[in-house]
Amino acid sequence: MGLISPELITKIITSASSAPSGDNSQPWRFVVRNNIIEFHYLPEKDNAILNYENSGTLIALGASIKNAELEALALGYNPKTKYIQKGSCVATMELQEGGRLKKGELQLHEAIFKRHSNRKAYRKIALDEEPRTDILNLFSSNEYGVGAVLLESKDVLQKTARALTTMEEVALGNQKLHELFFKDILWSESENREGKNGMYIKTLELPPPAQFLFRFLKNWSFARALAKIGFPKLVAKTNAKQNASASAFGVVVVRRADRETYLNIGKFIEHAWLLATAHGLSFQIVTGMVFLARTMKDESTKNIFSDKERKLVDRSYDIVKKYVGGAGEPIIVFRLGTSSEPTDISYRTKPDISFVK
Ligand SMILES: Cc1cc2nc3c(=O)[nH]c(=O)nc-3n(C[C@H](O)[C@H](O)[C@H](O)COP(=O)(O)O)c2cc1C
Repeated sequence: MGLISPELITKIITSASSAPSGDNSQPWRFVVRNNIIEFHYLPEKDNAILNYENSGTLIALGASIKNAELEALALGYNPKTKYIQKGSCVATMELQEGGRLKKGELQLHEAIFKRHSNRKAYRKIALDEEPRTDILNLFSSNEYGVGAVLLESKDVLQKTARALTTMEEVALGNQKLHELFFKDILWSESENREGKNGMYIKTLELPPPAQFLFRFLKNWSFARALAKIGFPKLVAKTNAKQNASASAFGVVVVRRADRETYLNIGKFIEHAWLLATAHGLSFQIVTGMVFLARTMKDESTKNIFSDKERKLVDRSYDIVKKYVGGAGEPIIVFRLGTSSEPTDISYRTKPDISFVK
């Protein structure tokens, strides 16, 4: 087989880099040797405190690998992915001849550039039978070696939603988290269109008064003063109502969390998200609290959180854990449902690709 043209390789990598990543950090870089694409991860682009064991970065890379595999198949190549650990390289994908998308994968491939986060309120309705069955089939397939549980009862949705917004409750009153959160906000449309790393303010779907307040909240002295009179709790309760409007929460669980597992979780999440998109469903990862609970175990965060914050987060994590029964350790939570289109979406920068001989 001859060399694949740089244009086709770029097409595969452009699909890879449209994958989701924490705060749209786009923590990847690509090296191409002959017909092999190397996936390099850049954990320094992610939020250092929340990125426990670089899990957020690895999950994003897993999602990008899933997209690349689908794009390669769509172009007629057979992608042979190998996870490796060599410097910053986490995986290689050799493109061989003779691939094609299977029946169920066509709709996933078509959804690659339609997929986006939707942080609006969703309509409080149950999932339709067909998407629900497809999603449950994926959850039980064990294709990626990770498990997932679908939470759907009203009471469980409300309690899970509130547990998840412990993230806001802690982040708005903790100086270090506050600093990291506001550092990653993009305030202008032009920065977003350029594909700069970060979260465009309009994608956060804040109600108008909160949007106005947000510019002041950026100032820690102001945020701290508000924290003293219970503002973070109020935000958390309001957001919980919004999150509970979902038809379901999906919780991705694992028995053992290691590097390969995180990459597989990324592939799994992207598969679920593309499937949801193909069914016209809205989707949002809501996993800050879970990441916070895991990162709090790390010795390096010892001085960042108070005992009160730790207790609050531990209790919230235990609520989610209780709802997944003995299925495993929750790593990612997402909400799923029906909504109108988001106000805006996040763009990507041109992927960093080095072609080497
Ligand atoms: C590991 C990981 C964690 C994430 N956590 C959250 C989260 O807690 N809340 C949220 O709204 N989005 C979360 N996201 C979604 C990203 O913010 C989103 O993918 C990114 O901003 C790009 O936007 P897009 O998904 O619309 O393309 C997460 C994504 C990944 C990969």
